[in-house]
Amino acid sequence: MPYPKPSRRSWAEPWKVKMVEPLRLTTREQRERAIAEAGFNTFLLRSEDVYIDLLTDSGTNAMSDIQWSGLMLGDEAYAGSKNFYHLWDAVTEHYGYKYLVPTHQGRGAEHILSKILIKPGDFIPGNMYFTTTRLHQELAGGTFVDVIIDEAHDPAREHPFKGNVDFTKLRKLVDEVGAKKVPYVSIAGTVNMAGGQPQSMGNLRALRDYCSQHHIPIVLDATRAVENAYFIQQREEGYKSKKVAEILKEYCSYTDTCTMSAKKDALTNIGGWLATNDQGLYEEARNLVVVYEGLHTYGGLAGRDMEAMARGIVESVDDDHMRARVGQVEYLGQHMIDWGIPIVRPIGGHAVFLDARAIYAHLPQCQYPAQALAADLYVDSGVRSMERGAVSAGRDSKTGEERFPKLELVRLALPRRVYTQAHMDVVAESVLHVFEQRAGARGLKMIFEPKYLRFFQARFEKV
Ligand code: F0G
Repeated sequence: MPYPKPSRRSWAEPWKVKMVEPLRLTTREQRERAIAEAGFNTFLLRSEDVYIDLLTDSGTNAMSDIQWSGLMLGDEAYAGSKNFYHLWDAVTEHYGYKYLVPTHQGRGAEHILSKILIKPGDFIPGNMYFTTTRLHQELAGGTFVDVIIDEAHDPAREHPFKGNVDFTKLRKLVDEVGAKKVPYVSIAGTVNMAGGQPQSMGNLRALRDYCSQHHIPIVLDATRAVENAYFIQQREEGYKSKKVAEILKEYCSYTDTCTMSAKKDALTNIGGWLATNDQGLYEEARNLVVVYEGLHTYGGLAGRDMEAMARGIVESVDDDHMRARVGQVEYLGQHMIDWGIPIVRPIGGHAVFLDARAIYAHLPQCQYPAQALAADLYVDSGVRSMERGAVSAGRDSKTGEERFPKLELVRLALPRRVYTQAHMDVVAESVLHVFEQRAGARGLKMIFEPKYLRFFQARFEKV
């Protein structure tokens, strides 16, 4: 078939490949065996049995030659490593906070923050939950309250900023329980569980005003805040001519503290931090990090990892990088839209989210349609994805009842700078094939359920 003449001028990634990692192709029979052995949980597959790995964009990024060369400059001193000071400068310059405490990854920072700020009986409002964030809030005795706009719970609803806070919901909570029982508002830049959806600058600015009136701090989960800044540049009035770096800094400036999983935006394979403008919080965090992570100048990381992070931060705020990163997600998502496959709209920043509830409409949510769809996609092509529905939502910490969220999704998360457009074509075609076979799909029964974050290790059987 001849290729049609293009009606556009293409652009490409602002990098070229210098080293490759071979991928292993498997047969359908091998994959059927592998997924059954993994209890139909893609987290329990061996990575060797995976062809294209879209399980997560966390720690799976390709580092640049500049980052790799930074590894050789690791100063592995127990105390006062020069890489720590380099990281400090990169975070304070690009995110704008005054103080930094490194942690081994995002949940290390969430743990410390929750222990310091939350008292039993507190309520923490936020723009949708994230699994580890909410668990640390609950383990500290708090209750998470979702105050995201309703649009975020409806995959088909188009809205440029589905990550926005609904002030009616927030006011209702604060009026009911009193500001003293709200230690902070928990905000995520591009909301993972909503489908990688951004929050607008206007919404965060308004939240700042509201929180200042009530003396409630704002804690930002900055894990994908650079991607959020990119969406603000693309979609919000007044930001078109601003650089992503500038927008990120303004965005963070409306918050008091951030926790960070540097394994995402910051283009590393490991790392995180807690950064804040609050000196008292900083002193406490710097003290507590010694108990749980490591000395306050390494926080559970090697010096070389801090160096890679410092360099990754600089690369992550580059406009061309962000355009290629989010552009690749859009490329994959647009195929789904063009082919009539239900996905979360608009297309998110780090992943394409398949609407498993709509695709496997014949399966009840108690048979975990998203878990089943992720397993079927793996068997079809060796593409690994992740459930983000009832299994991830887990159980209510007070009643023990299973939570059945409105969103029952399969996430195809794209590692940064790792896969090519041809890989995306293979993924899209496999999703289409599974979509066309959907009438024959069977649900799952959970046969092993761990107590914490069950989605990582739960096992299933076909019903
Ligand atoms: N916050 C958000 C929004 C995240 O997406 C993650 C991790 C964390 C915090 C925790 O960070 O993994 O470094 O401890 N998300 C990964 C994912 C696991 O696949 O979405 P961590």
